[in-house]
Amino acid sequence: MRSVNVMRLSRATIDWIEEEKASYPHPRAALLEALHLARAETGGLTMEVFAQVGDLFGMRAGEVAEVASFYSLLTLPRARAVLQVCTGLPCCLRGARGVVAEFERRLSIRAETAASDGGFGLAEVECVGSCATAPVVQVNLNPYLENVTAEFAASLCRSPQTAVDARRPAPIISSIPSGIDGYLLPPGGERWDSLDSYKAHGGYQSAAGAARMKPEDLRRMVEEAGLRGRGGAGFVTGRKWMFMPPKNGGPRYLAVNADESEPGTFKDRQIMERNPHLLLEGILIAGHAIEADAAYIYVRGEYVDAYATVRRAIAEAYRAGLLGERALALNRRFEVRVQRGAGAYICGEETGMLESMEGKKGQPRKRPPFPALHGLWGRPTTVDNVETLSHLPAIVARGPAWLRDRGAANSAGHTLFGVSGHVQRPGVFELPLGVSLRELIFKHAGGPFEGRPIKAVIPGGVSMPVLRADQIDVPMSHDALVKSGTMLGTGGVIVMDDRTCMVRAAIVVARFFAHESCGQCTQCREGTAWITSILRRIEAGAGTMRDLDTVRDCCTFMDGKCICALADGAAWSARAFVNQFSADFERHLTAGRCPFDRSFSI
Ligand SMILES: Cc1cc2nc3c(=O)[nH]c(=O)nc-3n(C[C@H](O)[C@H](O)[C@H](O)COP(=O)(O)O)c2cc1C
Ligand code: SF4
Ligand code: FES
Repeated sequence: MRSVNVMRLSRATIDWIEEEKASYPHPRAALLEALHLARAETGGLTMEVFAQVGDLFGMRAGEVAEVASFYSLLTLPRARAVLQVCTGLPCCLRGARGVVAEFERRLSIRAETAASDGGFGLAEVECVGSCATAPVVQVNLNPYLENVTAEFAASLCRSPQTAVDARRPAPIISSIPSGIDGYLLPPGGERWDSLDSYKAHGGYQSAAGAARMKPEDLRRMVEEAGLRGRGGAGFVTGRKWMFMPPKNGGPRYLAVNADESEPGTFKDRQIMERNPHLLLEGILIAGHAIEADAAYIYVRGEYVDAYATVRRAIAEAYRAGLLGERALALNRRFEVRVQRGAGAYICGEETGMLESMEGKKGQPRKRPPFPALHGLWGRPTTVDNVETLSHLPAIVARGPAWLRDRGAANSAGHTLFGVSGHVQRPGVFELPLGVSLRELIFKHAGGPFEGRPIKAVIPGGVSMPVLRADQIDVPMSHDALVKSGTMLGTGGVIVMDDRTCMVRAAIVVARFFAHESCGQCTQCREGTAWITSILRRIEAGAGTMRDLDTVRDCCTFMDGKCICALADGAAWSARAFVNQFSADFERHLTAGRCPFDRSFSI
């Protein structure tokens, strides 16, 4: 177990940091990794540690501290065992508040603090990307403890060492339903996480085929396939690639978005942990299509297993000559590196991610210029999501028409739908786009607990407007969901049953956005905070009818008026809760208290 007293970085850590620095065109890209390593070694980041890290990067201690202060994993309480309890919406729906209360009671500490002896620390964190196994606890940066009961939480409190040593095998929660010809997940709960296992199933043949094509033909092929980005915005991938300018001699990059932090979303993790070479093959194909020199994968810092699995896969691919000097698909130099984030949802926004990759605070950039012209280190860059890239081997192998035939109009192919909340079999299901939301919930996720009626469903991560139960006979396609007043987003479905207080659900989502706003835009910074505090007042029974209009006004003030779409998502979500479930809000106002006695706690 780490000590909390070590203040100086060891020679081994310094060497590791120097090696990381050397692997990027600009050494500062290794700053977050250096801070992770420094925190792990010293137990907490003090000004003395910032000064040492700063010396390695030619930065002042204050500059390093400013970057670190942006990231929640670098600002956790200082203790030997930091218990991080996820209190995102899916975890709250399944009892996360009880887990926090159990820790607080047994350890006599409040969230966001540490015990005076430096043994235990406690923190509430937002969605850690394991919503199907809620409630989730992470101790330091160890693999998650999933489906945590109050009893298990109590057992962790025996000693900091017990908590650090706690391990449980991670359940496989993603599957290809029978009758579906899957191409993203390995079948039957298998893990193809070694090169041999991936190659035994035809791996890397598509990359070799793509290498024989001209980049412009490959771009056209992917556009014809109708593949749309799976990161949330749904932009047509082949078309985005066309925005890259012609080669002019300097380096060009592919930035791979593996930040996956939208509550309700936990699908990219399935690919990285179970099929990492599929992602690498997709990266080779995209790298050829956009004529990139290198790809950088940005994995959220909490994804310990996914990061390790991808890192191992990259090392294997280098050893086999698939990457590096004469990369398989390209017959020229092509490098792939993986970077760790440090706990900030906004680093999933593409330009926030680029800033973070460069070792800065992950604050989104104003556009134009767009990343295709001015991306990583000012060079042409395409940003693609993990699942999006993982479609490419199948498109190259089977052709664009094959993908278009799977899915719905304007929504080609399969996707990995996540289902969490009040359902019997939460998980990730590989299914064609266009499957009905009802079928997804009832057939694949087993329907709500105890056969209870459904009250509400968020169809694609918490940024997307919530639907009422009478709206779930809708195909899960981009167009159909827009017609229903919402959007596909990340395909992360969150189900709430009839006991749920929708004001509480709205608060949990609103506080997430308020916490994650990077603070650059006044409308977003102030609006998300105002919405949260007004909703809290309503839930406490002290609201007025005018409060509902004030929430709507805040949404109008934010929507479409900020640097990035975090503010839009916060506004869409709050507006939909208030408008779709106005009766729940009004009952609080007339009762002067929350009338939903059996609802989840926040
Ligand atoms: C606040 C915010 C968070 C986002 N988080 C993610 C994320 O975690 N992963 C992701 O792939 N895209 C995320 N996106 C979307 C990205 O900005 C971008 O559209 C996407 O990575 C592009 O890849 P795609 O075209 O393959 O979907 C986010 C967007 C916003 C506004
Ligand atoms: S909209 Fe919010 S998160 Fe996005 S840049 Fe502005 S303040 Fe930051
Ligand atoms: S893992 Fe807790 S809400 Fe997603």
